[in-house]
Amino acid sequence: MSAFTIADVYALQIIDSRGDPTVEVVVVTEGGGVGRAATPAGASRGRYEAVELRDGGRSWGGRGVSRAVENVNKFIAPAIKGLESNMYRVVDRKLLELDGTPNKSRLGANALTAVSLANVKAAADTLGVPLFQFLGGFKARLLPIPLMNLINGGAHAGNELTFQEFMVVPVGADKFSEALRMAVEVYKELRKYLKEKYGPSAINVGDEGGYAPPMKFVREALDALVNSIRRAGYSEGTDIYLALDAAASQFYDEGKNVYRVDGKELSSEDLLEYYRELVDQYPVKIIEDPFNEEAFQEFTKLRSYVKGQVLIIGDDLTVTNINRIKKAVSTDSIDGSIIKVNQVGTISESEECIEYLLNSGKKAIISHRSGDTEDNVIAHIAVAYGVGLIKTGAPARGERTSKYNELLRIEYWLGDEALYAGKLKLL
Ligand code: PGA
Ligand code: ZN
Repeated sequence: MSAFTIADVYALQIIDSRGDPTVEVVVVTEGGGVGRAATPAGASRGRYEAVELRDGGRSWGGRGVSRAVENVNKFIAPAIKGLESNMYRVVDRKLLELDGTPNKSRLGANALTAVSLANVKAAADTLGVPLFQFLGGFKARLLPIPLMNLINGGAHAGNELTFQEFMVVPVGADKFSEALRMAVEVYKELRKYLKEKYGPSAINVGDEGGYAPPMKFVREALDALVNSIRRAGYSEGTDIYLALDAAASQFYDEGKNVYRVDGKELSSEDLLEYYRELVDQYPVKIIEDPFNEEAFQEFTKLRSYVKGQVLIIGDDLTVTNINRIKKAVSTDSIDGSIIKVNQVGTISESEECIEYLLNSGKKAIISHRSGDTEDNVIAHIAVAYGVGLIKTGAPARGERTSKYNELLRIEYWLGDEALYAGKLKLL
């Protein structure tokens, strides 16, 4: 037994930012370290994500997670008590062994995620260091570029915008805190612009805190961002880039093999041409999930069209799954992948994906989910592995600001050691 030995583990049901139940876990070590973590939830989930256990039935509209909570309290807790929390790969392996399925369908990836993350937090607390230093060591000092989602569409908003996320990417700053300020200034200008052009209801926000204006066309959203960047006194394409998450599986009609974009039906070839025009006309630097989650070949084609000028990123395509990431890399389909711990279920599997991507010269973008909690763990994960990129929504709603504020604290703690990824010309 050591100070790191897991002494207690328990789970309870809390609610996420959409009011849906989710799993929260507390891990306590013999040395008095405490770790608490909650699992987020997606709305535009990839088909190949690990299984999220929901109760079904009438209460909570079927969204309850009491089975996942019970799995932690009944099966996981007794099995990991006595293990060493700092040997988190061993703890995670035990979780995979207990579950025994390839997609975590027995215990639920929502149960596993909260346990795995609470465990590393408890280990860090036992050691008396912040989580980013426990996972990344004292070398960890790179603050990420925030891909800040200012306009919400798709499954995250009650409007007609085809694409899910319209982001600004503030690269032209010396510090993370300056980059955050730049993006916030654009957010404020955007609010004025939308109100002037579309009326007061245009400034209501969607699931990730970005505005959800009554727009019909993707270009309207891009125009709004470019205008707001200028009004805030910045230059698009030098100070601030744009990024898109098309989340194309959401507007793909499998039966007809067409994509429904801006009220029209487009073939894969048409959609490719559409992206080509967009990146010619706007300073878009990143496109996530441009095609559906099976379309490795189309991703590859788009990459060769944009010739490294635009980064093509997988999310529903890659689902933080090492086999799918390896396939996407070997088929030249991606420049990088989104990393969401709950798509796979454990921090060590996520770490394997991050390390594989970085060793392959690819990007890893640490990401929240559209249904999230005040848990700020992804701020620590982004700094720990020095990935330099994070997606955590608009500077609004507590579940989004909790991550930004933790990054501000990390920058403060690091003091002169802190480095901002935008300064490294990472993009
Ligand atoms: P989700 O969306 O959390 O609803 O899956 C986020 C994303 O697609 O990046
Ligand atoms: Zn996505």
